[in-house]
Amino acid sequence: MQSYRLNADRALEWVEGPTPAPGRGQVLVRVKATSLNSRDMVIANGLYPFPPSPNLIQLSDAAGVIEAVGPETTRFQVGDRVVNSFNPTWFGGPLRKVGRMYGTDIDGWLSDYAVVDEHALVSMPGHLSFEEAATLPCAALTAWSAVAGVGPGDTVLMQGSGGVSLFALQFALAAGARTIATTSGEAKAERLLGLGASDAVNYAETPDWGSVVRTLTDDRGVDLVVEVGGAATIPQSVEALALHGTISLVGHLGGAGQGMDLMPLSLRFATLRAIGVGSRSDLEEMNRVLSQHRIRPVIDRVFPFSDAPQAFDHFAHGSRFGKVVISR
Ligand SMILES: NC(=O)c1ccc[n+]([C@@H]2O[C@H](COP(=O)([O-])OP(=O)(O)OC[C@H]3O[C@@H](n4cnc5c(N)ncnc54)[C@H](OP(=O)(O)O)[C@@H]3O)[C@@H](O)[C@H]2O)c1
Repeated sequence: MQSYRLNADRALEWVEGPTPAPGRGQVLVRVKATSLNSRDMVIANGLYPFPPSPNLIQLSDAAGVIEAVGPETTRFQVGDRVVNSFNPTWFGGPLRKVGRMYGTDIDGWLSDYAVVDEHALVSMPGHLSFEEAATLPCAALTAWSAVAGVGPGDTVLMQGSGGVSLFALQFALAAGARTIATTSGEAKAERLLGLGASDAVNYAETPDWGSVVRTLTDDRGVDLVVEVGGAATIPQSVEALALHGTISLVGHLGGAGQGMDLMPLSLRFATLRAIGVGSRSDLEEMNRVLSQHRIRPVIDRVFPFSDAPQAFDHFAHGSRFGKVVISR
């Protein structure tokens, strides 16, 4: 088995070892593709809030094929195409305990094989390639959770063109909502409009983009903001928000910011809800909608397994539009 582990110097190290056999209730997955997320950069940079265990196989997201099944498995057969659930022990309902996570507490998916509990997997949507399906566990499910409850007549604001925001745009459109995007570049604005955003506002050139969004909505404001900037951008999100609107707090890409005055939030009668990816049951529901609407993830680049370090470098420093994938 060939894998990349994050060594004590925080470098990705190619290692080879025996392919494990699945035990009771476990399956052996032949990994066909994995994808990168912001979390993987945070781990690799040593900035994860809980110190990760050393020398773990990296990456939380994968798609692959069941190669072998252990005794007493019931969910899958050899040959089934599967995707992993981001949180391997959250099956549905409210999360009671975070549990052990890929790449920080247990081995992740940047490997040609992985043995996992069969309950940590779901069936892969049939219309997707392995590369596309590998983008679903974290970014797509987070976006799905962030736009939950949105419907026709609603307006949703996405910040930037990162992995979560692009999925949020696709899910909000599928739900019948109007979508407005912010982005920092003209070329990206064009691509966001091409994906179906009704408007794209340049947040780099327009620091008070919240009032621009208000104008675009005839001063009503948007019903939901997918907040990936965090403390630095949330004041503008509140400015853009309709009365009784919701902010789905997803990320903190903008850094610490200046702190937030809560009065504007009160004056909007707003709901602030923090998002934590989603459960296996949420993933299954999301996949049904993906399949029904034939939604295809936006992929920026696919790297071969041998170039995994370059994929990390591209994610961290390159100009991206869509998900970065590593294929076997
Ligand atoms: N809570 C959860 O469950 C959860 C799950 C997944 C991710 N997250 C977090 O959510 C955030 C987004 O994740 P991701 O995977 O989508 O990241 P990503 O792909 O790295 O997003 C990068 C893009 O975000 C946009 N961006 C960066 N800074 C911004 C700012 N200050 N204002 C507006 N847009 C900005 C930029 O878009 P443009 O280039 O278009 O300007 C950039 O290209 C990260 O902080 C991540 O850690 C949280």
